Amino acid sequence: MERAREDLNPRPGGPKPPALSMLSYVPNVKEFNRCKYLSKCLKISKKVRGVEYAIRDIVSAAREVENNGKSVAYLNIGDPVQFGFQPPDNVKQALISAIQNGENYYGSSEGLPALRNAIADKEKVKGLDVNSEQILVTNGVSEALDMVISSIVEDGDEVLLPGPYYPPYASYVRLHGATPVEFAVDLENGIPDIDDIRSKITSKTVAICLISPNNPTGLIFNENSLKQLVDVANEHDLYIICDEIYDQIVYDEKFIGIGKVAKDSPIILLNGFSKVHLMTGWRIGYIAFNNSPKLDLIRENLPKLARVRISSSLPVQHAALESITGPQNYVSEFVSKEFVLELLKQKGVLTVHGSGFGEKYGSGHFRIVFLPNMEILESSMNKIEEFVH
Ligand SMILES: Cc1ncc(COP(=O)(O)O)c(C=O)c1O
Repeated sequence: MERAREDLNPRPGGPKPPALSMLSYVPNVKEFNRCKYLSKCLKISKKVRGVEYAIRDIVSAAREVENNGKSVAYLNIGDPVQFGFQPPDNVKQALISAIQNGENYYGSSEGLPALRNAIADKEKVKGLDVNSEQILVTNGVSEALDMVISSIVEDGDEVLLPGPYYPPYASYVRLHGATPVEFAVDLENGIPDIDDIRSKITSKTVAICLISPNNPTGLIFNENSLKQLVDVANEHDLYIICDEIYDQIVYDEKFIGIGKVAKDSPIILLNGFSKVHLMTGWRIGYIAFNNSPKLDLIRENLPKLARVRISSSLPVQHAALESITGPQNYVSEFVSKEFVLELLKQKGVLTVHGSGFGEKYGSGHFRIVFLPNMEILESSMNKIEEFVH
């Protein structure tokens, strides 16, 4: 141990460490700086050095600031449960009951049949042509993304990502040897730049990823944009990977699922229970393949990855089942409150969530008073307008 610790320090005048290759990965700078002095380090793969997760990696800088006596407001992680929201009691109870009823064994690799059915029903309502056999339950969208990307790319392939994108998309693409290629999105109007996409498609492009509603921008692609994206993907025989984890967290715009416009295009839909269903810490999500014949091979082969990792948590799957088949009013209540909190954080305007005035009719609205003078009202209205756009 002592020896290893000693080797972590640079030795002035000591032997020069071997140069690290910078080939195609984006190095983790901190690790690279530390390791360039380590002549005795055992090797790690180039692939893993390319993995970054900006949202969490940045936390080490915050810890340093805290260690120097300053307090830090953490606005980096989109976890509703850390901001005062909780899964409803019936969902918590479903988890406890599953444990008490002995559902503590390895589940089926593809997922609990009743849950796969319920997920297929939910996605069918959103427009996807899918049945329960085409649903695979995963440990969150994160694991789903890992499985999908590892199933479709070879070294040197390229995957199109919307700019800006949720960071793990690029990380998993790099981890599996491919290159992420960003395409432009008009952030004012929420429209993907189809010409830019066309210009970036090469013989190495295998997939286009869509995140709608998007993290970090919140943009939702409208029906026309989705149709154009599907058309351009089909022209070039690309997989269409669509992340709809925020499908019910929409404020003023209409959400359209990719399934509505997909017909028999090859759609791999990623979704989960972390956000809408307030189950971030329970780690559960899913992959839904539509019926496209172009997906025959991946539908057959990807489940092997589910089998090698055995299964996702069985008690949590029972809770997820309750969360989508039980009462749904908590979702609109959460979305309504989230809107008010986000408006307060971003614009400093405090309103009251409509769900506080009755879940059934109040949700989806917010309340303001007209008592302040015109100047304050006008400036607040402008801020609200900026926020919703
Ligand atoms: C777009 C997007 N996809 C996936 C995830 C992670 O999902 P999960 O918790 O299901 O792994 C997040 C989390 O912030 C996200 O913003």
